[in-house]
Amino acid sequence: MKTYLVGGAVRDELLGLPVKDRDWVVTGATPDEMLKRGFKQVGADFPVFLHPHTREEYALARTERKQGQGYHGFSVYSAPDVTLEEDLKRRDLTINAMAKSTNGELVDPFGGREDIRTRNLRHVSEAFAEDPLRILRTARFAARLQPLGFTVAKSTMALMQQMVDDGEVEHLVPERVWQEIQRALHENEPGTFFEVLRDCGALAYIIPELCQEDEFQAAISALRCAHSSGGETAARFAALMSPLPMTEARNRSAQLKAPNDCQDLARLTTSLIPQIHAMNSYRADELLRILDEADVWRRADRFAGLLLTLKCALPETEHEKLDWLESAQRAATAVQAKELMAQGYRGKELGEAIRKERLQRISESNHTH
Ligand code: CTP
Repeated sequence: MKTYLVGGAVRDELLGLPVKDRDWVVTGATPDEMLKRGFKQVGADFPVFLHPHTREEYALARTERKQGQGYHGFSVYSAPDVTLEEDLKRRDLTINAMAKSTNGELVDPFGGREDIRTRNLRHVSEAFAEDPLRILRTARFAARLQPLGFTVAKSTMALMQQMVDDGEVEHLVPERVWQEIQRALHENEPGTFFEVLRDCGALAYIIPELCQEDEFQAAISALRCAHSSGGETAARFAALMSPLPMTEARNRSAQLKAPNDCQDLARLTTSLIPQIHAMNSYRADELLRILDEADVWRRADRFAGLLLTLKCALPETEHEKLDWLESAQRAATAVQAKELMAQGYRGKELGEAIRKERLQRISESNHTH
């Protein structure tokens, strides 16, 4: 039996990038032999094992064949006679389909090293088309490696367009799509992810509302801003959705099954943008209404992300209003219910008194503007 380092670790080493996980392929072995050597089997579908000490993944060399449509229905064949080359051939991109033997020799049957040199994201074989998730993965690698000069090879872009035309993207389950979007939002150039999806036609299935040129450009520049400001996933996602009307942003976030914090921030951002546009002067009542809608009283934690998103989504001419909002929030949250209770307010009257006091303080804080 022989073991080889494969996939991302070999790619990243050649790129001079830090190696995160190391995955291994084993040829010439059976599951029984692996178990006898102390490896632990993980996953029922594939013959994948964990090393007893390093906990790194060791997979028996396998081939995969698609049966039927969609993501399910792969038949996996694994036996000691499956070669390393056969295992590499079922992989997505040539840069991900290289291996390194234990004595340091590179095994590169599909020209991965040359594609690293020429900065190409190229599919290994027609088997790429068997897994539509690979469209999203390729877009994500483009987003990650764009700063190094990588682009999607013409032939791969054509294959992805064909897959989209064949309706393959419709078979992806929202959970897998969201997982790729979420990861893409944190890659070096997240906008590139959506550009690749647009160019191959997949965006029309994933976030069709962004296919219009104006919305698309606005979304990408808001996202770029949220990314360079170090925003969390929710802020990045809300920035992406920010050019859309609130109902569209809300429905699309729900269909994508984005996590609640992402859905909430996208809805709130798109609801507040027109209100902020409409506010033409420092108005305590309008500012308080916005703070109420943002529920800053109970959701103070979310406010920083909201402001960051709004700043990225709104043109510079509107930024002064965000300063108003911030100082209104500071003034209003200083109101202490306890003090008003000590004055004898209770129940509904207490609520009214809190509101009046908040309005008062927001008005006063205007002196600083
Ligand atoms: N792979 C594939 N098709 C997929 C998923 C994975 O061909 N749909 C292959 C690729 O060869 C990839 C390897 O499995 O290199 C491991 O996949 P994964 O751990 O998801 O990605 P990495 O390439 O290691 O990249 P990352 O740095 O994002 O972890």
